[in-house]
Amino acid sequence: MLPQQKGRQSLFAEVKSSFRADVLEGLAGKPRTIPARWLYDRRGSELFEAITALPEYYPTRTERAILQNAVGDIAALTGRNRVIVEFGSGSSAKTPILLSEVCPAAYVPIDISAEFLMESVAALSAAFPALPIFPIESDFTERLGLPEAIDGMARLGFFPGSTIGNLVVADAVDLLRAMAATLGVGSMLLIGIDRIKDRNILLPAYDDAQGVTAAFNLNLLHRINRELSGTVPLDAFSHVVRWNEVETRIEMHLMASRDVHFSVDGRPFSMASGETIHTENSFKYELQGAQVLLRAGGWSPIADWTDRDGSFSLMLAKMGASTSATSNVNRRAMLRVMESDSGRGGGASMTAALVAPSRDAQTTEKSCVGTMRN
Ligand code: TRP
Repeated sequence: MLPQQKGRQSLFAEVKSSFRADVLEGLAGKPRTIPARWLYDRRGSELFEAITALPEYYPTRTERAILQNAVGDIAALTGRNRVIVEFGSGSSAKTPILLSEVCPAAYVPIDISAEFLMESVAALSAAFPALPIFPIESDFTERLGLPEAIDGMARLGFFPGSTIGNLVVADAVDLLRAMAATLGVGSMLLIGIDRIKDRNILLPAYDDAQGVTAAFNLNLLHRINRELSGTVPLDAFSHVVRWNEVETRIEMHLMASRDVHFSVDGRPFSMASGETIHTENSFKYELQGAQVLLRAGGWSPIADWTDRDGSFSLMLAKMGASTSATSNVNRRAMLRVMESDSGRGGGASMTAALVAPSRDAQTTEKSCVGTMRN
C-alpha cells in the first residue's frame, strides 16, 4: 500500500512510534546514536533550508551551478518524457532547473515532511501548470511503490544534495539498489555526491558562524522533549562537528557539557560530561570512490560533472551493470572533447561521458510542453 493511501492519523501514529523506538534504542546504545532522519520535522526542514543558503555551506550552491551548466548535456543523455522521481525532495529548490530542460512526463517528489512536500508541490505546479505531479509522503529509505499513473514510463531518479553521503556505505549501497528496484529497468539516476576536501572548508560548512547548523542539530532534542515527553536539559548540550579522516566523513554530535539525567517517555537516561549523541554522518568521496559506490548499488556511471575546484560531483548513471571496454574508448574521446571545449560550462566541467550531446539537440529541444512560468 502506498503511504499516501493510509489515513493521515495512522501514518502519524506510525511515524511517532518509530521515532520513539529509534530514540529509546539510540540513547541506550554505546555509542549513543539517533538516526538522522529524525532531524527533519517541520522546524528541522526549515533550518536545513536556511543552512543551504549559508556562506559556509558550499554544497548547495556548487551543485546548483553544476546542474545549471550541465542540464543541457543531461537532457541530451536522458532524452525527454521520462518521469522524474526525486528522493528527499525537500523544498525542490533545484528541481525547476532540471524540469525545464529534461521535459519530464510527470514529477514524483518523495519527502518525509508532509507539510513541506505540499508547499513545494504547490509552488512547482504554479511554475509548471501542465506537469502532472504525484507527491509521496514517505521516508525514501523504506521500500515504496510508485503511483499507477506512471506505470510503463521510463524514469529518471533525482537524488541531489549528497544525501547519499548521510548513509554508511552498506546502507548507501542498499538504498541505491532499492532505488533501482523502485525505478525499474531502463531507468537512470542523477545523483549529487560531495567530494573529499580540506577540513578547513569541510568543518565550517557543518558549523557555521551564525549557529544555524547548531540549531538544526539541537532541534532534535526539542523534538524529543515535545513529541516523546522528554526532559532533556537543552542548555546542557552543544553542537559538535568532527572530521573523521579514516572514514572520510563529517560527524555531527550533541555533546553533554555536564553530567545529565533525564527521561524520555518515562525511561531514565544518564550521560557523563563530554559524552555525545551521534546524530549525523556526511561521507565524502573521491570521484573514483563515488563510481565504485554507484556500481555496487547496481548503477553504471555514464557521465559526471564538477566545478572548477572538484569540490562536488553530479553524476548520471544508468541501471544495471556496465558494458564492455568500448565504453572506455568513447569515454576517453569524450574527455578530450570536453577539455578542449573551454568556452562551455562557465565554472562547471564535464569529466566523462559515453555519448556526446549533439548541439542541434540542445538548441532545438529546449521548450517543454509544461514550460516554466516566471
Ligand atoms: N546531505 C547534506 C550534507 O551532508 C545535507 C545535510 C544533512 C546537512 N545533514 C546535515 C547539512 C546537517 C548540514 C548539517 O551535507
